[in-house]
Amino acid sequence: MPVLQVEHLTKDYGSNSGVFDVTFEVNKGEVFGFLGPNGAGKTTTIRHIMSFSRPQQGSTAVNGLDSWKDHYIIQKDVGYLPGEIALPEALTGNQFIKMMAELRDMSDMTHTDYLIKKFKLEPSGGLKRMSLGMKRKLAIVTAFMHDPQILVLDEPTSGLDPMMQDIFISFIKDEKERGKTILLSSHIFSEVDATCDRIAIIKDGRLVSTFVANDLRHNESKTFKIEFASQEEFERFREQVEYPKKLDVISVKRHRNQARVLIDDIDVNELISVLSDYHLKFFTEIKFTLEDYFMKFYDRNENLEGVTENVVN
Ligand SMILES: Nc1ncnc2c1ncn2[C@@H]1O[C@H](COP(=O)(O)OP(=O)(O)OP(=O)(O)O)[C@@H](O)[C@H]1O
Ligand SMILES: [Mg+2]
Repeated sequence: MPVLQVEHLTKDYGSNSGVFDVTFEVNKGEVFGFLGPNGAGKTTTIRHIMSFSRPQQGSTAVNGLDSWKDHYIIQKDVGYLPGEIALPEALTGNQFIKMMAELRDMSDMTHTDYLIKKFKLEPSGGLKRMSLGMKRKLAIVTAFMHDPQILVLDEPTSGLDPMMQDIFISFIKDEKERGKTILLSSHIFSEVDATCDRIAIIKDGRLVSTFVANDLRHNESKTFKIEFASQEEFERFREQVEYPKKLDVISVKRHRNQARVLIDDIDVNELISVLSDYHLKFFTEIKFTLEDYFMKFYDRNENLEGVTENVVN
């Protein structure tokens, strides 16, 4: 049984906004990345999982329990960090932590203290005067102080400085080690790349791709950029590779005598052997990153056909 389940979830806010027939699941121990441009439907989906919103069609479930019907149970099992936090301004950080501990009937504060140290939270001051980053840290500590098995994080590192973002990534990795199940919505490719096992991309309220992150990381083809020492050398190479070939030349730039060559990993030796016969200026691999892949979905005019071809659905 999946830990988190979103099945044909539809919430139509009109004017083509909302979420439409969204289906995915997150399994035990998995870190699942949920990506998409502004307004794509990430928060809407997450709010349904957390039972703050009722589906028009479809359902969401946590540990097999319907989010809407069993909201008391699911909220206890989940540590939820909302994208926009609202904290009671009249309290100090310490008072807020104490209040949350009482609400949860907690007496053992060992894990809370660990989180306060880990995130360098200074909870003594009043919330009204706390910096945005400090408020985010307080929200993090209070979301996870009861050491929940499931973490639902809506853009968790927004408002955190780069050092705190790194600490957050290490926190997610530690939690994964401890067997937690994590759903993480984000715009930050490096944080998704560093933590996620699987990733879903949502655009205009619809899932456009779900894939295993490692399949993309270990892409079995590579692109090389080659600059030849002279135009003659460049032309000679072009003629050679125009024949039935192992080398898939994806683009050539005559004015710089440059070629981009896309090949399967197994053909790397073949490429090197072909190039050994030429005078080159340089030869370099163009790294394909998750970001290159994601950016295709961020461009509103991009034709998505073919983009999902090589990934596992
Ligand atoms: N309560 C609501 N009433 C009407 N429209 C809403 C409501 N909540 C969200 N929407 C609309 O639904 C769409 C999805 O919003 P959502 O907040 O889920 O996007 P998001 O992916 O979380 O974006 P962001 O990256 O900016 O946080 C947007 O067009 C938004 O304006
Ligand atoms: Mg959002």
